[in-house]
Parts: sequence; C-alpha cells; structure tokens
Amino acid sequence: MTNATILIADDDEDIRLALNLLLSAQGYQIIEAANAKEIIIESNRQQPDLVLLDMNFSRDTTSGQEGLAILEQLQPLNIPVILMTAWGSIELAVEGLQKGANDFIEKPWNKLKLLNSIKQQLSFSRAKEQNQGYRQLLAGDNKKAWVCLSESMQAIETLVAQIAPTDANILILGENGTGKSLLAERIHQLSSRQQAPLIAVNMAAIPDNLFESELFGHQKGAFTDAKQNRVGRFQLADKGTLFFDEIGSLPLTLQPKLLRVLETGHYEILGSSQTQVADVRLISATNANLNQLISEQAFRQDLLYRLNTIVITIPPLRERLEDIPGLANCFITKFSEKYRKQALNISPCALSKLKQHNWPGNIREFSHVIERAVLLTSGGEITAQQLLLENADSTNDTVLLQPLEQAEKQLIEKAMTVTGGQVIEAAKLLDISRNALYRRLEKFAIHHVE
Ligand SMILES: Nc1ncnc2c1ncn2[C@@H]1O[C@H](COP(=O)(O)OP(=O)(O)OP(=O)(O)O)[C@@H](O)[C@H]1O
Ligand SMILES: [Mg+2]
Repeated sequence: MTNATILIADDDEDIRLALNLLLSAQGYQIIEAANAKEIIIESNRQQPDLVLLDMNFSRDTTSGQEGLAILEQLQPLNIPVILMTAWGSIELAVEGLQKGANDFIEKPWNKLKLLNSIKQQLSFSRAKEQNQGYRQLLAGDNKKAWVCLSESMQAIETLVAQIAPTDANILILGENGTGKSLLAERIHQLSSRQQAPLIAVNMAAIPDNLFESELFGHQKGAFTDAKQNRVGRFQLADKGTLFFDEIGSLPLTLQPKLLRVLETGHYEILGSSQTQVADVRLISATNANLNQLISEQAFRQDLLYRLNTIVITIPPLRERLEDIPGLANCFITKFSEKYRKQALNISPCALSKLKQHNWPGNIREFSHVIERAVLLTSGGEITAQQLLLENADSTNDTVLLQPLEQAEKQLIEKAMTVTGGQVIEAAKLLDISRNALYRRLEKFAIHHVE
C-alpha cells in the first residue's frame, strides 16, 4: 500500500519536516498535525491509514500523559498508531501499547526500523480489512443454514450453546463433509470474539519450511526469501479465533513448534526477538483418528491435550437420517435460487432414496446431488431418477472382482461424479493427494476441469 496516508503528529516542526521528507520519498501521502486538537480533527476528517504519534507533546513535559490521552481518543477510529518515544522511556511505550498503540519507535529513530514498522502495521491492517470484508460477505450470505433436527445434532447444539461463549479450546471430529468447518464458523459467531476475525489455517496445505512464517509471521530479511514483512496467522486472529483445519495432517516435526506457543501463550515473529502474546481461541478439526495416530507415534499426545478441552464429534449423515428432509429442503431452496428455478418439491420416492444412500461424502456429497437434481428438473418436482443415485441395494457396494486398474478407474469416476467434478474434494473422498488424483485422471483420460 504505497500511497497510504500517514498522519505525522509532532509538535516539533523540524521533526515533522524530517519525517515528511523521509516518508513522502517512499510514496506515502502525508498529513501533519502539531497539537492534540489538530490530530483528532485531521484523523476524523481525513481518515489516515496510520498515525505516527509523538508521546512528548508540550516540550516541557516528558511524562507522555498528553500522548496517552490522544491515543485514547484515537482508539474508536481503529487506525493503527505507532508511538514515538524519547529514548529510554520504555515504560511509557509499554503503557501506550497496553492502551492500544500498535508499535513504538524510539527517537532519534532508526530509518529502517521506522519504515519497517510502518510497512508491517499497514500490511496488518490491510489484511484485517480484507478479513472484515470477507466476514461481511459471509454475513451477507447468511442463508448458510445449519440443519440440526436429529437427536445427535440437537445434542451438539446444546453443547455448542454452552461452550461457544467460553474460551475453551474445541476439537471437532467427523468424516469428510460432515460440516466441521461450518460448525467452527458457527462457534466463532456465537462467541464473544465474533467481532474479531476467524482465521482458518489448513494444516495440510502449508509447506513445512514456511510453517513458522505462516503462523508467526516474519520480518523482511529474516530468511533468504523473506522479501517483505509478513503478518502471521496468530497475529491476524488476534482477539479472535484461529481455526486449525486438518490438524491430523500436521507433520510430527512441526508439532513441537505449535505445542510451544500453545503451552506458553507466547511466540516470536521470525527475525524479531520481541515476544508476542497470543490472544486467540483455538478450534481444530480433523477427519483423522487422532488416537490411532498417537499410537502410531504420528501425533503427539501432549499436543492433543492442548487442543481437546472440548471434543465435538459430528456423526456421519447415514447415522442421522432425520436430518435428510431438512437438508433436502435447505439445498433445494439454495440451488433453485442460484439457478433461478421455480419453487421445487421433492417426491416421496426421491426422499426415500436419499435416505437409503450411504453418503460417503456426507453433506457435501448430498449438496452436490441436490444441485445436480435441481439443474436436471424441468417440472416442479424432483424425482428419484434425477438424483442419479445408484440403486439403493448397491449402496453397500458389493465389490466385483475385476482387474484392479479397472476398479481404480471406476472409483475415481464415481468420486468425480459424487463431487460434481471437484478435484480437491474427490481427492479427499479417495484419501489421496490432489496431485495423485490429477495423475490418475490423466492416465485414465477422465474428463475434469482444472
Ligand atoms: N448441518 C448442516 N446444515 C446445512 N449445511 C451443512 C451442514 N453441515 C454441512 N453443511 C454444508 O455441507 C458442506 C460441507 O461442510 P463443511 O465444509 O463444513 O464440511 P467439513 O467437515 O469441514 O469437510 P472436510 O472434512 O472436507 O473439511 C458445506 O457446503 C456446508 O455448508
Ligand atoms: Mg472442512
């Protein structure tokens, strides 16, 4: 964000000039303010992206009280503030940080440090804004229904109502597509942290060598490829919720790094020696059997204990058939709106077919089946035929003896059909990596989209 606007708040004209020269040379737009009143007025009027705030106004004092008072008045504006304090007044800086400032710089400043801190704070607040936008998008898409009519889902609802408002760490277990991610979102929305971000980290998708940088952030130059400052997920989720998805895929070598921050509540940004306090609520999810992974020494027991204060197991769809009519209605409404179809019903026969299917891909698979049926239906009713489910009696999948390659091809085709051609999801159903699936799709010349 090179053309970001920075408000320089200092009563010393020479300092304002020096900072103005330094920062405008970097491409920033500059506003200046010389006293408390100007600072508040200009901040409200021009909404700068960042404020550089001197702590020792009125030259006769060094107590910093005036700076702290201004800082308090700036708080509601949600603008990142970097304090400038006299050299050695570390106490004052700490007090400022506690009152909501984002960083501090000692005067006389080190140019590089100052520029770095500005960059870091701007990229942090931009990331937060993007997340805000994302949350608003979610809020707009509030039709995200949560069907929970079955007894087992009702029990989960009761538990969630009790624990969502607390800060207890929650581990969500369940097969693919049972609604783990959606439940994590609901818990966050029902928690006292709902105004702060929910940041998801897919533990299966972070390359090993970037793990720490991804979670804790890094400063420019911390390692060869660190060309820019990077804000870590812990910092992005500050005061909010951190969602560790697919926690069972976290490699054993990386587990101690996560364990440490969970045990101490502290971490360091790579390249910085300053200790950061982690203020996040943790929700984790996995479809793996963690106890089995522990017995195979692929997952650390002590890490599990840090994650599983409360465990919620979402049952597979085939074990909660009472949810099927509700889910069918929910997805029929959703997809008939999406494809601008007239209101649709579902025939009793189709409904019973839905109840007989085995649903290896759970609600995600269910949603794809209904989406396809909505597209195929031209009348006002979805019939059993349009579900394109195999005959109910083949749901137990009697395995035919046939050449292995042929069976492999059939399984892959089935996974692609069930997931509506989504390679990532099909790979999950088959429990192989995305690349492994791509290789096989090429090999068997199965049509797919990139
Ligand atoms: N109870 C529910 N009511 C309505 N929709 C649901 C429900 N549970 C899940 N869904 C929908 O089903 C789909 C799959 O859910 P989600 O992605 O949360 O599953 P998951 O368990 O996280 O899957 P994975 O194991 O692949 O990460 C999503 O589109 C979600 O909105
Ligand atoms: Mg998920």
